[in-house]
Amino acid sequence: MFSQITKQVAIQATRSFSTTGQNNYKVAVCGASGGIGQPLSLLLKQSPLIKELALYDIVHTPGVAADLSHIDTGSKVKGYTGPAEVDACLKGADVVVIPAGVPRKPGMTRDDLFNVNAGIIKDLAAGIAKNCPKACVAIITNPVNTCVPIAAEVLKKHGVHDPKRVFGVSTLDIVRARAFIGEAAGVDPQKVDIPVIGGHSGVTIMPILSQCNPKVSFSADKVKALTERIQEAGTEVVKAKAGAGSATLSMAYAGARFAVSLLRGLSGEKNVVECSYVQSNVTEAAYFSTPLVLGKNGIEENLGLPKLNDFEKKLLEAAIPELKKNIEKGVKFANK
Ligand SMILES: NC(=O)c1ccc[n+]([C@@H]2O[C@H](COP(=O)([O-])OP(=O)(O)OC[C@H]3O[C@@H](n4cnc5c(N)ncnc54)[C@H](O)[C@@H]3O)[C@@H](O)[C@H]2O)c1
Repeated sequence: MFSQITKQVAIQATRSFSTTGQNNYKVAVCGASGGIGQPLSLLLKQSPLIKELALYDIVHTPGVAADLSHIDTGSKVKGYTGPAEVDACLKGADVVVIPAGVPRKPGMTRDDLFNVNAGIIKDLAAGIAKNCPKACVAIITNPVNTCVPIAAEVLKKHGVHDPKRVFGVSTLDIVRARAFIGEAAGVDPQKVDIPVIGGHSGVTIMPILSQCNPKVSFSADKVKALTERIQEAGTEVVKAKAGAGSATLSMAYAGARFAVSLLRGLSGEKNVVECSYVQSNVTEAAYFSTPLVLGKNGIEENLGLPKLNDFEKKLLEAAIPELKKNIEKGVKFANK
């Protein structure tokens, strides 16, 4: 019985991250030995779209790569350790996923991570410009709202910036919204489709419950409570982990989903839609997450702002000044 259940779980996990397709792509994970990096790499090892999984970190990558390389899927896994090996890791990558950097401890905001993580993103972006300028770059490192503009500015300086290929990964906000709404409405979370737009911190996270599919009807108080829970869900995990870091397993799940969606788009699959924090002219903020159609060149089409009700318009009013501040900080840092 137990083995039947574990087999079923394994099959389901594989299905979530695979599509029928050929293993054509090189994916680099930077920060691959970390709390997110390891399970993210494990999930990516299951994707038949990947031919080469290149794992970079400043520590422990030989062990992580050796371990993952024993899994019986088609992709080749290789570990790269330290700045001397970063070029080889990134060379020719089609997708670069970045969970490198320090996570939050209780009492910290994502912005408190800026001093360490901004420098890591700046260096990795320079490596991407040099070794894989056409790669789709998926940034998980916090503060996402600021790290994405930093990467974009560095790529601009190297003359290789393509705004259709630089993404802030906000997928965990969608995954959480699906889980919480599914639970509250008594529906299968896998069937919940909801745009979560804006950015990836506090008030910039805007779940658009009015556009949820299937339609859900909650009282105004419940909508407010669900919205606030989705906005503060990261802090819920940070508190529960009590100093041992922030979300890693759910983030790995979300990061793998986003990376595989990028690969599905690159491979020509139609109608691949994900919300992601990207350069945008949809609002006054220069970077903003909205639903995007992903394709052979990264973003195929920005689907723009969903219809907002009065409550959601207020969320937007609160998000924009915070986003502008976060973005300006990143642009300034990259250009100093
Ligand atoms: N986007 C999101 O929704 C989301 C969710 C959770 C966490 N995060 C962020 O993801 C990041 C990683 O979190 P974690 O829990 O995996 O942290 P972690 O400390 O467990 O792992 C980070 C890894 O990055 C590596 N690293 C440090 N400097 C590096 C460098 N210069 N180059 C390459 N690798 C380097 C470390 O050695 C470590 O293995 C944090 O910034 C965290 O805030 C984002």
